[in-house]
Amino acid sequence: MTTATADIIQVIGVTRTFGKGNGAVTVLKGATLALPAGKFIAFRGRSGSGKTTLINLLGALDQPTEGSIRFDGREITNLPEWKRDEIRRQEIGLIFQSFALVPLMTALENVEFMLRIADYPAKLRRDAALFALEQVGLGTCLHHRPFEMSGGEQQRTAIARAIAHKPKLILADEPTAELDSRTGLTIIKIFRDLVQQGMSVVLTTHDPAIMDMVDQVYELEDGHIVAAR
Ligand SMILES: Nc1ncnc2c1ncn2[C@@H]1O[C@H](COP(=O)(O)OP(=O)(O)OP(=O)(O)O)[C@@H](O)[C@H]1O
Ligand SMILES: [Mg+2]
Repeated sequence: MTTATADIIQVIGVTRTFGKGNGAVTVLKGATLALPAGKFIAFRGRSGSGKTTLINLLGALDQPTEGSIRFDGREITNLPEWKRDEIRRQEIGLIFQSFALVPLMTALENVEFMLRIADYPAKLRRDAALFALEQVGLGTCLHHRPFEMSGGEQQRTAIARAIAHKPKLILADEPTAELDSRTGLTIIKIFRDLVQQGMSVVLTTHDPAIMDMVDQVYELEDGHIVAAR
């Protein structure tokens, strides 16, 4: 059953252990957290504290060892893989540190390709892709391939790709780590605009300047998630 909720994400007693026996590493240890919808939220924590692990769990790319995760009021833990794929493709937008664009495709083709994967209606794909690229200020780079774009332009293409299907939630794992700080801030301003339009944005970062620009900061510490600001 779907219940209406003001939280876009609820993490309830989540543990994630990698490996077995003596070599097992427990990264999250019963972490609990509720993230309100329509906010800009950052996770911080030292390297190895579990930020990427958490983002992968929130995006249904990975399953907790124990505990449950609710996305927009729906349990996403223990769903069959095809169902998790569907939720991720249709309702979540993912952004990675390394942009992860298809090298031989232009900016426009990269965005249209993702819309196809999201089962977005064929007739509407071109317009949705153009709109998203316009939104991130790339209206003039539509036909550039990744190697013909700067790092900032590539990341903006990746953001356009992540937002074109109008997801409720954007998850971004260190989206500015490979950019200079000025370019990084233009990326953060784009996220701010998206939050203003009603999307929920969750990112991980090591950058204190970014933490000053978000609504809430959480810290990963010893397998737990604590409010930092
Ligand atoms: N698939 C895996 N198999 C085994 N161990 C893993 C796996 N994924 C992550 N880990 C371990 O879990 C811990 C947390 O990793 P994670 O990538 O989540 O950290 P992080 O906070 O994102 O670090 P960074 O800031 O360096 O990106 C690390 O000790 C890592 O080695
Ligand atoms: Mg990481």
